[in-house]
Amino acid sequence: MAKSYSSLLKDQAYVGGQWVPAASGETFQVTNPSSGEVLGSVPDMNAGDATKAIRTAYNAFQTWRETTAKERSVLLRRWFELIVEKKDSLAELLTVENGKPVTESLGEVNYAATFLEWFAEEARRTYGDMIPAPAKSKRIVVVHQPVGVASMITPWNFPYAMVTRKAGAAIAAGCTVVLKPSEETPLTTLAMVDLAHQAGIPAGVFNVVTCSRKNVDAVGKTLCTDPLVAKISFTGSTAVGKLLLKWGADTVKKASMELGGHAPFVVFDSADVDAAVHGAMMSKFRYMGQTCVCANRFLVQEGIHDAFCTKLEAAMAAQLKVGDGLDKGNSQGPLINIKAVEKIESQISDAVSKGATVVTGGKRHALGGTFFEPTLLKGVTTDMLCTQQETFGPVAPVIKFKTEEEAVTIANSANVGLAGYFFSNNIGQIWRVAERMEVGMVGVNEGLVSMVEAPFGGVKESGIGVEGSKYGIHEYLNVKYICFGGI
Ligand code: SIN
Repeated sequence: MAKSYSSLLKDQAYVGGQWVPAASGETFQVTNPSSGEVLGSVPDMNAGDATKAIRTAYNAFQTWRETTAKERSVLLRRWFELIVEKKDSLAELLTVENGKPVTESLGEVNYAATFLEWFAEEARRTYGDMIPAPAKSKRIVVVHQPVGVASMITPWNFPYAMVTRKAGAAIAAGCTVVLKPSEETPLTTLAMVDLAHQAGIPAGVFNVVTCSRKNVDAVGKTLCTDPLVAKISFTGSTAVGKLLLKWGADTVKKASMELGGHAPFVVFDSADVDAAVHGAMMSKFRYMGQTCVCANRFLVQEGIHDAFCTKLEAAMAAQLKVGDGLDKGNSQGPLINIKAVEKIESQISDAVSKGATVVTGGKRHALGGTFFEPTLLKGVTTDMLCTQQETFGPVAPVIKFKTEEEAVTIANSANVGLAGYFFSNNIGQIWRVAERMEVGMVGVNEGLVSMVEAPFGGVKESGIGVEGSKYGIHEYLNVKYICFGGI
């Protein structure tokens, strides 16, 4: 039977407005993490292919930079509309490619589309400044200009939204793009670029090169070192982000880095326990814990600790059903790959060996493959791996604390700072903790903070720059000051 997404499947990369193979002719397979079924094959491109795509983007930039904001806006808006028209098939393709439950996949398609709608509008608002000059004979004018070719490396966990959040902003600003999707999720990215093509985004403005693990270092290095590239934008781990920054340093690339998180989720005694549990479910179990803003460490004050744990366990039992994501009754699909399963297994066994208790879950699911039981751990302490590393899986470790000072100290003990959450009904405490948490995004009595209108980004080793919001387009613009004299 034809699948709803069959017409979205592509088996070639996209460079210069053409569907192209790898110069070597090599391909690699993409599989469904739920069933292991092969969904298709895409080109396994190498450094030479990436260089060609960069040249193409550089040539296209010479004319794209001259377009008006209104022209770019109209095309981005058309791309947005095509995504909305195809949203159900795009959602199913996402579910079969990365395992995301289909209701969440639909949420991601809509989220991805909003970045194009938003940047279609923001394209027209990159106003400059007229600054009062210190001399009567001078005028100071500031304009914003597109930086040039932007290299993008996007992750498997949000393969639509991270493409539109980055490429939407860059294209709106007048930049051209060469994007490498994760080897786990190239099909969703190619479906997205096909819609950009149908929307009329001109040849060479948006290019996608695909490659497997075998070529990922060579292609990544080319994208970060080629002198024709002005900007690197990456979403992924802190370790890889550091490597890309090193590669980009020799030619002083501009960089936007959305790197790892280790989000604290603090519940104070004054919190509404039901609201905190609701927030915890949203924040921890969205896409089986595989987002960089997922709650990673629960810090719960001693007076509310037992009630919170009991209610969280009950909510997990009632709301989390594990199974194939295409079945709307399932809220937890497979993890992306076996390495993800092994990582959380090692965190759980480390925690148990140091005295934590498994309240529920704790092991691979009976369905096999990469399905894992949603897990709640109690009696967790700060010397355990699960409180020191990002988990990226459906494990909720709970640490009991006594004072606000202690909670803030533990929350800020990480070398990263992306999102942080806390629940409290004490207004003084709300201000104090929101200001003191060392993160880029704070959820106060709220477990879900991602939205196009708000700036997404971290501090410390969680990255550089922000995406989305009124700030996102400026990541792709240079500030130029022009001094008019002799007036
Ligand atoms: C991410 O995990 O990289 C993005 C999550 C989001 O936008 O909510």
